[in-house]
Amino acid sequence: TLITNIASLVTNDPSLGWGSPRSSKFENGGGSPLGLVQDAAVVIEGDRVVWTGDQSKAPATDNRIDAEGRAVLPGFVDSHSHLVFAGDRTQEFNARMSGRPYSAGGIRTTVAATRAASDEELEANVTRYLAEALRQGTTTFETKSGYGLTVEDEARALRVAAAHTDEVTYLGAHIVAPEFAEDPAGYVALVTGEMLDACAPHARWIDVFCEKGAFDGDQARAILTAGKARGLHPRIHANQLSYGPGVQLAVELDAASADHCTHLTDADVDALANSRTVATLLPGAEFSTRAPWPDARRLLDAGATVALSTDCNPGSSFTSSVAFCVALAVRDMGMTPDEAVWSATAGGAAALRRTDIGRLTPGAYADLTLLDAPSHVHLAYRPGVPLVSGVWRRGERVV
Ligand code: NIG
Ligand code: FE
Repeated sequence: TLITNIASLVTNDPSLGWGSPRSSKFENGGGSPLGLVQDAAVVIEGDRVVWTGDQSKAPATDNRIDAEGRAVLPGFVDSHSHLVFAGDRTQEFNARMSGRPYSAGGIRTTVAATRAASDEELEANVTRYLAEALRQGTTTFETKSGYGLTVEDEARALRVAAAHTDEVTYLGAHIVAPEFAEDPAGYVALVTGEMLDACAPHARWIDVFCEKGAFDGDQARAILTAGKARGLHPRIHANQLSYGPGVQLAVELDAASADHCTHLTDADVDALANSRTVATLLPGAEFSTRAPWPDARRLLDAGATVALSTDCNPGSSFTSSVAFCVALAVRDMGMTPDEAVWSATAGGAAALRRTDIGRLTPGAYADLTLLDAPSHVHLAYRPGVPLVSGVWRRGERVV
């Protein structure tokens, strides 16, 4: 398949640099290259991209699709979501919007609803939110357990997740299970023992919510280290609600990503900048909890790699729209549209330590989004507008 007449193509090909003749280094700030090609074409064979470049040089193919002067970019890589849950927390959101603060305690509401739900109900929920995300241009997503908090309920959540994605994360350490309120050490022993045994076969990643009211630095280190010993790779919910040890621990353990990064010291920013740990920013959470925005500009200027994801969950960020997060990041977190789009595609891929997604270069998966707009900048310029008019996943048109 040849997609031609693309006004502006985001390849994220590092060898092309930013690629846009119209954008200067100043306009783009720091960060990584978007590899823009104007008047471009893409050739797909099977599930892969086999060629991208100037449309006048495109090889001939049988099946030709006219993009009619619109923009194409890699499908969004949503590297942080919590989709295996039941129930909703409308009341809690309402209370927050009339002035109540967010606390991790609300997680217990979803734990109770999730434990009470049938397998079919959980499965139907995941299917529904995935379809919602796909329609909005998300072609890869990570998702996690964390609303079960028993051996059976955590393993069940991971089995449900694994039926839909390879990027599955074991988050038995979301909060201390209510049954262990008086015995947090006992819960850590369960998470690193029997629960890990039951969950490790279904997951690629292990995560901890490192925060006051959840798990402290020493507990988080013990949990992630146990997971590593079982072949799971670490990622951390770090520095979301307050300053703390999460980011430093992520770097110490070579975690793929430190997620949230809302409260960072200069030492935290330095540590990220001098590591391969990606800072994954989740502005849907700050939006929905009326918290201060994470400072993407500070991270980018220091040289850190930044990803943008939804954190889709019923408590702190009930959006499946990566485009919404891109718009927030541009408006309120100091990112340029180019940087935000890179972070939502190649950045998400980096947070999952992958180079076969988040870019449209020969050999990468043919996961791409056609916008009803002449450029990717419109994702931030036209916030809230459903601009996605076509989605290909693994070479197949799905929207
Ligand atoms: O990433 N911070 C911890 N976990 C989720 C919120 C979960 C919830 O409120 O249900 C988050 O924001
Ligand atoms: Fe989260």
